[in-house]
Amino acid sequence: MITDPFAIKKYPKWHPLRVAFTVKARLLDREARLNFNKYKLPEILLPNLPSSPELDDLSTAVTSLQMQHLLSALSATEHLKNTVVVEVGSYRGVTTQVLAKATSRKVIAVDPYIGYGGSDRDYHCFQKNTLGLSNVIHERMTSGEAVKTWQHGPVSLVFIDALHNYVNTYFDIKAWSSLTIENGILAMHDTDQYCFAGTRKAVFKTCKAAELFAHPDNLTLVHAQKVS
Ligand SMILES: C[S@@+](CC[C@H](N)C(=O)[O-])C[C@H]1O[C@@H](n2cnc3c(N)ncnc32)[C@H](O)[C@@H]1O
Repeated sequence: MITDPFAIKKYPKWHPLRVAFTVKARLLDREARLNFNKYKLPEILLPNLPSSPELDDLSTAVTSLQMQHLLSALSATEHLKNTVVVEVGSYRGVTTQVLAKATSRKVIAVDPYIGYGGSDRDYHCFQKNTLGLSNVIHERMTSGEAVKTWQHGPVSLVFIDALHNYVNTYFDIKAWSSLTIENGILAMHDTDQYCFAGTRKAVFKTCKAAELFAHPDNLTLVHAQKVS
């Protein structure tokens, strides 16, 4: 059983369990920075990419090329009926909107908007950007809480883009791959930036043996059955 880093935050700041977890988490990120090059995965660009709408770069860090690869993954999993798409960390809802408009599946956006990169103001933007999209369901809770209380059935595509350190990314990959069907796809954002070295390491550790679906700069997509 892997520890949900947000469950640890329920302990008082100086509780020995929380202190020990925080120290370990920082050491893991430090090691990831020291070995940043070791955790590199090969680049794989897909041919015949679908077009992407222009993205407001003040409201999302996802680039057009990355969005095109996410749309390819969406299309490759569209035949998986009675499944849902998940975005872990939906922020202002820019990518949620693009994904929801391009699929007939439900898109479950998981984001607590309690700080950690997402504020009430971002939540208002999210609501505006997803207004009228009847296939979007927002779960206002953390990734770990959403997995624990999950009621939306099997997942065919999950886009993990929440907290970018080792312990959180590792937890998200493990937790969400357990809900993802065998021929589904896991996509992880911010996998190639030094400042998010922990995210790259978590992806490398869990997906190194995996058959990559695609890997444009800073976005890694893998077949779910290959995640270990
Ligand atoms: C980088 S932004 C997501 C950007 C969005 N996917 C996009 O492409 O535009 C990170 C988001 O993760 C959310 N977040 C932070 N911790 C989280 C957690 N434990 N579970 C789910 N979401 C979380 C923050 O509230 C923030 O809105």
